[in-house]
Amino acid sequence: MYNIAILPGDGIGPEVITEARKILEAVEQKYGVVMNFSEGAVGGTALDVFRTPLPEATLQLVENSDAVLFGAVGGPKWDKLETYLRPEQAILELRKQLRLYANLRPAELFPALIGASPLKNKLIQRKFDILIVRELTGGLYYGKPKGMKRVDGKLEAVDTMIYNEDQIERVAHTAFMIAQNKKKHLTSVDKANVLETSRLWRDVVERVSMNYPDVELSHMYVDNCSMQLISRPEQFDVILTENTFGDILSDEAGALTGSLGMLPSASIGDNKPFIYEPIHGSAPDIAGKGKANPIGCILSAAMMLEYSFGFHEAARKVKSAVEKALDMGYRTYDMFADAKKVVTTAEMGDIIKGFLINDD
Ligand code: IPM
Ligand code: MG
Repeated sequence: MYNIAILPGDGIGPEVITEARKILEAVEQKYGVVMNFSEGAVGGTALDVFRTPLPEATLQLVENSDAVLFGAVGGPKWDKLETYLRPEQAILELRKQLRLYANLRPAELFPALIGASPLKNKLIQRKFDILIVRELTGGLYYGKPKGMKRVDGKLEAVDTMIYNEDQIERVAHTAFMIAQNKKKHLTSVDKANVLETSRLWRDVVERVSMNYPDVELSHMYVDNCSMQLISRPEQFDVILTENTFGDILSDEAGALTGSLGMLPSASIGDNKPFIYEPIHGSAPDIAGKGKANPIGCILSAAMMLEYSFGFHEAARKVKSAVEKALDMGYRTYDMFADAKKVVTTAEMGDIIKGFLINDD
């Protein structure tokens, strides 16, 4: 039996989580496994009731689980709060507490969505399938000192970009191992022409690469990488990069696939539980309208099946059910561009579930 903590959060989080859960329940039915789901409050929704974005009870629920499915947090209602009360703190704190130092973000072009990609068709004739491995618990997001103060009458703010070699080494191992199971090409992205942390990053990645002679390693500056992603995305296989660069590049890579709403992620470390979440965020403007795309969350559940439970076949089948729905022309509101059959969030979940149950 698998204990799964479900944290729906804010905005469209609850809607997309409902659909992902539907798919996991279909997996239970199809493969005869038992999953035990327990819900916890997180983000702004938690703040309103418990005065903290990450209540102790939620943290306990998570710590006692085998895996976590996370919706999204944040919204205009909570935007003016002090840092420690902001909904985003919940996810940052969870990643840190659970030591989930590697964030895996696939950006894969589904053939049915080529028309929805912002790239000209001639640029994406060669299908791309990129996996970004983002360092998740170091760098600018967590470095100290951090804060704002008045110096000589002027407000001054500081964030600190700091990495030690252990932090780089462990995430580099993760990325090389993943590359071994992909197309065996790893691009390490840094800004080693300017940043000291990047020079260390490059040295450590070089060192780690000695253990993986079958993986071809190259280095690329982050500014160049952001340009290469939109001009020749098919050159990439696995991209390894630090926290902030990974945050930015993964949104860019995501947009190339036609809809951010499609993209899943997994945050992993040495010990369970791992967190699975769509990368799209809470999208408060469309919340509660049945317009959200549940596919990012459904594919996050598929990553859970694969990375936490080793159910490779079930994960593959979920993905192929998603692909069938797209091939048949079903689209949620966000993928409107070339839509033939626009469906609601819940309808999309039902359609994918149907394909999953009937696939043998
Ligand atoms: C993401 C998000 C988060 C991040 C925010 C919500 C803290 O942008 O998961 O990419 O920057 O890590
Ligand atoms: Mg982001």
